[in-house]
Parts: sequence; C-alpha cells; structure tokens
Amino acid sequence: MNIPLSRPLIGRAEANAAAKVILAGAVVGRGELGLALERRMARDIGVKHALLTTSGTHALELSMAVLGLGPGDEVILPSFTFSSVANAVLRQGAAPVFCDVLEDTLNIDVSDAARRVTKRTRAIIPVHYAGVACDMDAVGRLARGHGLAVVEDAAHAVGARWRGRGLGSIGDAGCLSFHATKNITCGEGGAFLTDSDALARKAEFFREKGTNRSAFIRGEIKKYTWVSEGSSYVLSDVLAAILTEQWKRLPAINKERGELHALYMAELAGALRLPVIPEGCESSCHLFHALLPDRKTRDRCLAELKRRGIGAAFHYQPLHASPFARNVLKDRSRLPVSESVGDRLIRLPLYAGLKKKDVLRVCAALKRMVL
Ligand SMILES: Cc1ncc(COP(=O)(O)O)c(C=O)c1O
Repeated sequence: MNIPLSRPLIGRAEANAAAKVILAGAVVGRGELGLALERRMARDIGVKHALLTTSGTHALELSMAVLGLGPGDEVILPSFTFSSVANAVLRQGAAPVFCDVLEDTLNIDVSDAARRVTKRTRAIIPVHYAGVACDMDAVGRLARGHGLAVVEDAAHAVGARWRGRGLGSIGDAGCLSFHATKNITCGEGGAFLTDSDALARKAEFFREKGTNRSAFIRGEIKKYTWVSEGSSYVLSDVLAAILTEQWKRLPAINKERGELHALYMAELAGALRLPVIPEGCESSCHLFHALLPDRKTRDRCLAELKRRGIGAAFHYQPLHASPFARNVLKDRSRLPVSESVGDRLIRLPLYAGLKKKDVLRVCAALKRMVL
C-alpha cells in the first residue's frame, strides 16, 4: 500500500455543510457562515480580528498592502520559505531581504536578520516553520528597536501556540493557510489576523475591491463606495462552510499529528538529525522533517522511498538561490544554513489518519538506508 506525503482529513460533514449552502442558494462571499467563522477563529486564537481570505498568499499580500509598503522599503524574511512570502513584498514594489535560519528549528535567525536591517527596513516576516514558533521575544526586541512591523507567517501553524499565545496573534498581523496540504483545509483559503482596528479596517477595504461594502452590509453606512486601493480576497461561503467543519476538527487533527510526530521522533532518534521543538512551543506538527548528512544521501533516500511507494519530499529550495532571485532580483546573498538544509532536508508522511504501523514502516525503511 502506498503512503502519501499528506492527505486532508475531510469528508461527509464538510460535504453536507457545503451542500447546505448551495441548496439554500447562499453562494455569496462574506456571508453568515464566513462571518461566524471569523468570530470563532478570532476567539479561539486570541486575536481581535480574523478576516478570511482566498489563500494564505492573499493574506500575506493583504498584510503588506495594509502596512502601506512601497518602493524603497525593505522587508526581512527567511530565505528558507515559500515564494508567496517574497512575492507579497514584491507586489507592493518593496524589496525582499533574505536572511538565514537556525539549523535546529529552521526558523528565522534573528541575529542574522539584525545584521540586514537598514534605514529602509520597514517590516520583518517570521515564518513558523512546520508549526513551531519562532523566538518571538527576539523578533519583538529587534522590531521594537528599529520600529519594524512584524507579520507572522503562520501558514504551517494553525492551532499552534507560543507560551500559550496563538501563533498569528503575536505580531502586528498574522497569516494562516487552508491550502489542501495544510492541517485543515477548504481547498484554497487563508486568514489575515490582527489586533489592530486600523489594520483590520484597511484590510476589510482592500479585501473588498477597495470598497467599504463590509460596513454597508453591517448597516453602518447607506451605500458603499470605492475608498482605497484593493483587490478581491473574500472567501466564498461555500468554502467557509467546509472550513467551519474543519475548524471543529482542528484540535483532534493536531492531537493526532502530534502523536505521530512523537512516534517518528522516538523511532528515528540516533539515526537522523531530528527537529527541535523549543520549550514553550505547542507545535501544530504540520510537517515531520529530518536532516540527512548530504544532498546525495537525501536524494538517494527520496528515490528509494518513492520506489517503495512512500511519499517523501525535499523542502524549500532557498529563495535567495532560486533562478528568480539570482537572475531577476540579482540577489547575491550566501546563506549557509538555508543552503545546507535545503540540500539535506527530507519530509516524511504526516497526516491525521496515517496509521502508526505505516510510520513504523517508513522509519524502518529509512533506517535501513542510513544506518
Ligand atoms: C510558509 C508558507 N507561507 C505561505 C504559504 C501560502 O499559502 P497558500 O498556499 O494558502 O497560498 C505557504 C504555502 O504552502 C507556505 O508554506
């Protein structure tokens, strides 16, 4: 039996919820269900405002837009992340400045970030890799010291906490993803989180094509009009219905992922370089990853696991070394940890519904390859 790398836990409850919306003809964006989910999400995470968006990418773009970034501004982000983070900066005409990550957590190396601050730096984007919190004390100190905005990329970290605080709720803004590969999903979706009334208001305008339609729907104004720059990032209620059911499942999903993650850690101890979850971090266990000694061994293991029907993958080609950064942005950075882990990292199957005996099978196969 093949074991995929990831698989959403989604079924009848989600299908019924979506069907109900469709059969009621309530196929609108920002409908009753979406609004109720936003309130529930904000309460559960511990943040004042949650705005559902059409993707995690759009939540990041929204963050950069409402911070008012533009040409001449710089934003620091880890190179070891997904292209959406850098694209969100570029779409505002600002410049992404890549920094390195720490080898134990693969989260932002704040001292390396500090070395890259200039008088043009406006914001920093800590990415909570695999659902483990970045050192938010260090990020906060750096940001306060230089007057930078903090936008947390919590795409991997839905339901994760740092010292009891929901990830995505700590910075000036936070972004979640509900892509099909994430812990919970509605196919494509995301959320923008903030405690700031001013940012939430701007985000509401931006998400609704630059209009104050949301205020109109709430009955606060008699007609709506164009009030700012904007785009169309409102989530449909069909997807919000699916996501509402997924949100109910989140604690159970994350608990199960946590148990499987712990089983991998126990089985692979001593065989591979394993991820570190620092004290105070309640991980969402979005990924299970480990480091192999070199690229050749990693690629051999990937090919061998594939041959055995096991879905393993590498993760992030560091952005600063990608063809776009090198050829178009003319980025010449050397970030040794990002480059090294990009060569050596392997991701192993992890999803709610994965059987423990399959985790044992993956671990046994991998150990035979490396020991
Ligand atoms: C770290 C990170 N940020 C942002 C995103 C973008 O999220 P989405 O796929 O919902 O647009 C991803 C997607 O995988 C991601 O891994």
